[in-house]
Amino acid sequence: MTNPYWDEVVDHVTDDRLYGLVVGGLGPLRDQTRPIEESMCYRRREFVAKFAWTISDPATLDFVLEHCGQRVVDPMAGTGYWAWLLTQAGRDVVASDVSPPAGGTQNNWHVGGKCFVDVEAADAVHTVAKYPDRTLLLMWPPYSDLIGERTVRAYSGDRILYVGEDDDGCCGTEAMFKMLDNEKLWTRVAGHRPIQWSGLHDDVAVYQRVGLAPRRANPPDLTRGIGNGSLLPTTGGR
Ligand SMILES: C[S@@+](CC[C@H](N)C(=O)[O-])C[C@H]1O[C@@H](n2cnc3c(N)ncnc32)[C@H](O)[C@@H]1O
Repeated sequence: MTNPYWDEVVDHVTDDRLYGLVVGGLGPLRDQTRPIEESMCYRRREFVAKFAWTISDPATLDFVLEHCGQRVVDPMAGTGYWAWLLTQAGRDVVASDVSPPAGGTQNNWHVGGKCFVDVEAADAVHTVAKYPDRTLLLMWPPYSDLIGERTVRAYSGDRILYVGEDDDGCCGTEAMFKMLDNEKLWTRVAGHRPIQWSGLHDDVAVYQRVGLAPRRANPPDLTRGIGNGSLLPTTGGR
């Protein structure tokens, strides 16, 4: 498993005692030997533009792999970084984005970023309507934008893995969270807190459609070498 995002941030993980493990903390959590411009807090935008909005720490990756099933649709994939990780673990992922990053400014969330896999140019509603037989990976739907709720509404499949901030944060809309929290529609069956960018509050939540039996979790793939959630880099010597 190659996971360069994690390799680049792993040495900067600190415990802020309030939210747990974070990257990019300020004050006593910052490496005081370097100028503030070089701190991870300042560099966060660079990392999310190049890779993804949620840090791909091994425990979070394991959690996503445990719950996403074999076939996944990632309809707001950005650079497709997480799709690439899942593909490396043998999962079949369809990735699309309304504006696949291509090294320039065409995608505001990923300025300068490039795709790690083929990311089809498509509206998320169109993509999820086409692939109801896949788990929906709903990762950082844009804040205050109807596309999050439109995507949940258009998805007729049985499982959603939501990754991003909660209803007090910078993702989706109130109506999107109301839909996910509507116990007549969806049941939250599992949750996990990733290692955070300091000041952000990422969460992973697994929703199962009401009335359909939960899927069997995937057995862990012991060949991947990331199963212990350790803070070790994924490649030697980076
Ligand atoms: C905050 S970024 C998250 C990207 C990626 N999921 C991640 O977590 O790194 C939001 C993404 O949603 C995409 N997006 C916005 N509106 C969309 C739409 N109507 N259909 C598909 N993607 C859309 C943007 O282009 C952007 O790449």
